[in-house]
Amino acid sequence: MSDDSFAGQVAIVTGGASGIGAAAVEHFARRGARVFSVDRDYQTAPAEIVAARVGTLEIETVHCDVSDEQQVAETAERIATEAGSASILVNSAGITGPQAPLWETSYDYWKQIYRVNVDGTFLMCRAVLPHLIKAGYGRVINIASMAGMEGNARSSAYSSSKSAVIGLTKSLGKELARTGVLVNAIAPTVFTTPINQKVDQDYHEYLISRIPLGRPGEVHEAAELIGFLASSRCSFSTGAVFDLSGGRAVY
Ligand SMILES: NC(=O)c1ccc[n+]([C@@H]2O[C@H](COP(=O)([O-])OP(=O)(O)OC[C@H]3O[C@@H](n4cnc5c(N)ncnc54)[C@H](O)[C@@H]3O)[C@@H](O)[C@H]2O)c1
Repeated sequence: MSDDSFAGQVAIVTGGASGIGAAAVEHFARRGARVFSVDRDYQTAPAEIVAARVGTLEIETVHCDVSDEQQVAETAERIATEAGSASILVNSAGITGPQAPLWETSYDYWKQIYRVNVDGTFLMCRAVLPHLIKAGYGRVINIASMAGMEGNARSSAYSSSKSAVIGLTKSLGKELARTGVLVNAIAPTVFTTPINQKVDQDYHEYLISRIPLGRPGEVHEAAELIGFLASSRCSFSTGAVFDLSGGRAVY
């Protein structure tokens, strides 16, 4: 068995239908994990588990809005009943929106961003963690953002929601440090995924211009780091934020 094998493990990936989450789903499935891809985009009943194929790989999809407390609880319960304890949770479900100054940001928009990016991460962690803690082993990877490290202008809702994900990761990492469960975050800069269709084009190009490597990241590059953080090879890092910024971050 290769040392990046996930054979015998169960992975739950939110936002697994697209972008970075989908790349993580494929990464785990390719290496032998049983993968549950949780996304509100799946056109099935809430919490229903449906077998699916990604190319030649078999995965299981679950329709769940991660900002809905009941759907998250039911989803976690159904997965545990179906597959036993998961050992990997990746919180990749996230949204952004058009850029605007804070004083032109509607409260509804602000709450929508927080409901998915922050509450969704909290709810999934709360529902899944008891299984990991009981098993005495687990890896949680939260997808934050460079925006949450630095704060992007005209992006106060999104940036601060990702700062909250970073704070949650740091707290949880310490809280669980003696349980066998490690909790880390990654902070990507711009990646080529559908989420950026919601971002103004000139702003998108400005963000890319700030990347010293001179290009956006590719989702398989995010999946490689997520894969490491989800593995037992990651053993002395918790509550940490891992850079994925093509050289933009200088700290
Ligand atoms: N792509 C980037 O440039 C970039 C940069 C930094 C951070 N991120 C973060 O990476 C994560 C993944 O983003 P992506 O680029 O893959 O975007 P994406 O739009 O390709 O994928 C996001 C997925 O999340 C799902 N989702 C959204 N709201 C949901 C909800 N309430 N419940 C369940 N699923 C929901 C969507 O249906 C979609 O499948 C996000 O948290 C995003 O903020 C992305």
